[in-house]
Amino acid sequence: MTEVAGSSTAARQQAEPVVVRRLDYRPPDWLVDEVELCFWLDPRATRVQGRLRLRRADAGGTAPLRLHGGDQPLVRLCCDGAELASHAWQRDSDGLTLFGLPAACTLEIETELDPQANRALEGLYLSAGIFCTQCEAEGFRRILFFPDRPDVLARYTTTLIADERLPVLLANGNLVASGPLADGRHFARWHDPFPKPSYLFALVAGELVCRERPYRTLSGRSVQLQIYVEPRNAALCDHALASLERAMRWDEQRFGLEYDLERYMVVAVDDFNMGAMENKGLNVFNSKYVLACPATATDDDYLDIEGVIAHEYFHNWTGNRITCRDWFQLSLKEGLTVFRDQEFSADMHSAAIKRIEEVRLLQTQQFAEDAGPTAHPVRPDSYVEINNFYTMTVYHKGAELVRLLQTLLGWEDFVRGMRLYVERHDGQAVTTDDFVAAVLDANPQAGIDRELFSRWYSQAGTPLLRLSWQQDAAAGQWRLHCRQSCPPTPGQEHKQPVLIPLRLALLDASGRPCGLRLAGETEAGAPERVLRLTAAEQEFTFVDLPGEVTPSLLRGFSAPVRLEAPLTREQQAFLMAHDSDAFNRWQAAQALLLQALLAGLKAPEGGAGELADSLLLEAFHHSLTDQTADPALLALALTLPTEGYIADQLPGAVDPARVHQVREKLRGQLATRLNDALLICYRQQQDAGPYVFSGPALARRRLKNLCLTYLARSPAEEARDLLWQQARHSDNMTDTAAAMALLAETPDVAVDELLQTFYQRWRHQPLVIDKWLAWQARSQRPDCLARLCRLLEDPAFSLTNPNRVRALIGTFCQANPYHFHAADGSGYRFLEQQLCAIDGFNPQVAARLVLPLLRWPRFEPGRRVLMLAVLQRLAARQPLSRDLYEMVQRALAQEAVD
Ligand code: TRP
Ligand code: ZN
Repeated sequence: MTEVAGSSTAARQQAEPVVVRRLDYRPPDWLVDEVELCFWLDPRATRVQGRLRLRRADAGGTAPLRLHGGDQPLVRLCCDGAELASHAWQRDSDGLTLFGLPAACTLEIETELDPQANRALEGLYLSAGIFCTQCEAEGFRRILFFPDRPDVLARYTTTLIADERLPVLLANGNLVASGPLADGRHFARWHDPFPKPSYLFALVAGELVCRERPYRTLSGRSVQLQIYVEPRNAALCDHALASLERAMRWDEQRFGLEYDLERYMVVAVDDFNMGAMENKGLNVFNSKYVLACPATATDDDYLDIEGVIAHEYFHNWTGNRITCRDWFQLSLKEGLTVFRDQEFSADMHSAAIKRIEEVRLLQTQQFAEDAGPTAHPVRPDSYVEINNFYTMTVYHKGAELVRLLQTLLGWEDFVRGMRLYVERHDGQAVTTDDFVAAVLDANPQAGIDRELFSRWYSQAGTPLLRLSWQQDAAAGQWRLHCRQSCPPTPGQEHKQPVLIPLRLALLDASGRPCGLRLAGETEAGAPERVLRLTAAEQEFTFVDLPGEVTPSLLRGFSAPVRLEAPLTREQQAFLMAHDSDAFNRWQAAQALLLQALLAGLKAPEGGAGELADSLLLEAFHHSLTDQTADPALLALALTLPTEGYIADQLPGAVDPARVHQVREKLRGQLATRLNDALLICYRQQQDAGPYVFSGPALARRRLKNLCLTYLARSPAEEARDLLWQQARHSDNMTDTAAAMALLAETPDVAVDELLQTFYQRWRHQPLVIDKWLAWQARSQRPDCLARLCRLLEDPAFSLTNPNRVRALIGTFCQANPYHFHAADGSGYRFLEQQLCAIDGFNPQVAARLVLPLLRWPRFEPGRRVLMLAVLQRLAARQPLSRDLYEMVQRALAQEAVD
């Protein structure tokens, strides 16, 4: 193919990584009103033609036109029908600059792509023979030269031309024409009437089947809901389709938001860098978040599918109709949409359980991010590679900030804020400040200080909230002292106070919340209230109390802070048993477990004796035999904190081997001491009939399988029998996977045979094979790593498939600290080798895999040196992707902490 030559094409090589800064934002000089695209699809040579109707944003302006681009060839470049002279444009490493264009014109651009060679899974690529695209954040430029920024909104018409052997041709919007062409080809033309940024563009072509059903919106519009999958997966779409319907109804009822096109399409593909993508009218999903049946998917898979389907659907308003002005505003759409999917899931199932799971994620993952080298504000100030900012902070802390507004306003007033946001900004590309302003403008009565609140978006790090109190039981007074601070993070030494809503209750001796009256108030109010903390230090005095009280603090986790409060173990046990706030019952149980673990870690020999004292044993025993409690809640309460989370709570340098030993020791002690109660509880939760996906059934399976995690460490033969029985004979993947994961923890030839049988049965179902890989990657057996190295060669494994890579390599590095942090450095070298291989073709995946290595300063000197050596070797590598470069540089920029 020929390439047209502009000036200085020779200067196209890898440039120095550039830092992009939020404050450098300038509105676009040129706007695109219409885009017409035509694709002649071919695995090795796809021809792409684009016709752009452009105009200057400011008719008197003089700025040249900047088009971003990848390294695809430029075949043709015309303006208003005439080829552009070579002095009128210039190509560099990341795009084209065009000079002297008329203030309004039509540009024609032609290029050619090789989708089959695209293993970065960004732009146009092939997944198992299906053509698909991924354009967020900056993938569209790899398809066509374009002003690839989210504040350029255009209307798209897309024509796909392909072989009849690719019967399904899809793009954004509504189908406007389709039919046969000469020589066995056919075409389809799609038009999307809603102006959108290029990152929401999508096309799909392949041999797919469609599962569909009609939907009627509350206002009476009809929408066709469609899920496209490979023919072999046709029977696995029911749950996703039903979830979609529920999500649509929920958004209509909660926020008054309806869908806006004739159809809503979801396509499942096997090769996908993330979970799913909200392309307008044509979501592309990782098949993991679509396909399910009881034999192959666990309860958690079912919940994840429902949540991700809802998430992408909710983006249609929070992301698509109202999008981001620039990528620093990513949380505008992601934080808000995560908040919305959380609220949806809470309404579909148990709100308490959902809240606990979110907080657990936040405390284990986001707090760790905030405390490490990649800490950044929810609205970052700079980046090298935007793909590195699809983080726990932007998504989940961002969601917490939206939740803060709802907590401060109450949910009805929050909905009013959302309505104003949508009314004011529909069709625009806006900022997180615009969002906060709309919600607060709709609620002037709330008296929320915008600036104080906005610091949550601009400051990185997890605020530390230290509470202490004095009680004068005789006088019926309880005085609360609050101090907030926030540790320094990279680039932010000093922090200012933020607005913290502190939800609390004071419980009397029977566990009942007292009516709350602050000194100076005329009468007692509700038994729970939200105090607003606005300064570094504050005091509140509650009066008129009936005597001795136990505080229930930060109820429902009313703000994303680390709480330090001088509660005694007796008070924690009391809260675990009696708090009417389910979240706090869970938090109290976890505090008791954590204290036992930390005490063991402090003791010279890992605590030679018992780690579980009678208080802990009684609290556990009481829970296991409590017939009134929600089994799902009990299961969460009695789950041991992860090794990673325990390590994060240690004040000094971490020895991961000791953390592992002490945790296993506590697990073994609880198993032995509570064996009978665990066995009884297991049996009580066992369902007789076939698998059903329902709240109560799911809750019972959770508690049963929680019991099993301890029983797997019980010396009793009966416990072992149960485990084997469940692994061999359960009729559903939830129970099978729970048992198999436990069996695979330790070496045993019988387990190897079972794993082999499982493999033979499921080797053609990649999503099931991912579970099989993950069990082996988490194993404590001494030969774990050697086995993983062999698995890398297994035909069921593929380094180019992100799901397989995450299941094997990701699980090992993140969920198996015992082996990953092996003292001889073998785990680190394993990761290094895999990173070097993967970075060459899929930088996004490589940059996520490297995360566990970045936390080197937290570890004891031996490991630290080994980790650092790997990072230094990576930094010296040529070539190194921008993605991995940025991560490694940040890790090397920090210092050891003790
Ligand atoms: N916007 C997507 C979501 O959260 C996620 C996403 C961002 C993504 N970049 C991606 C998905 C790259 C796949 C590949 O819903
Ligand atoms: Zn999203």
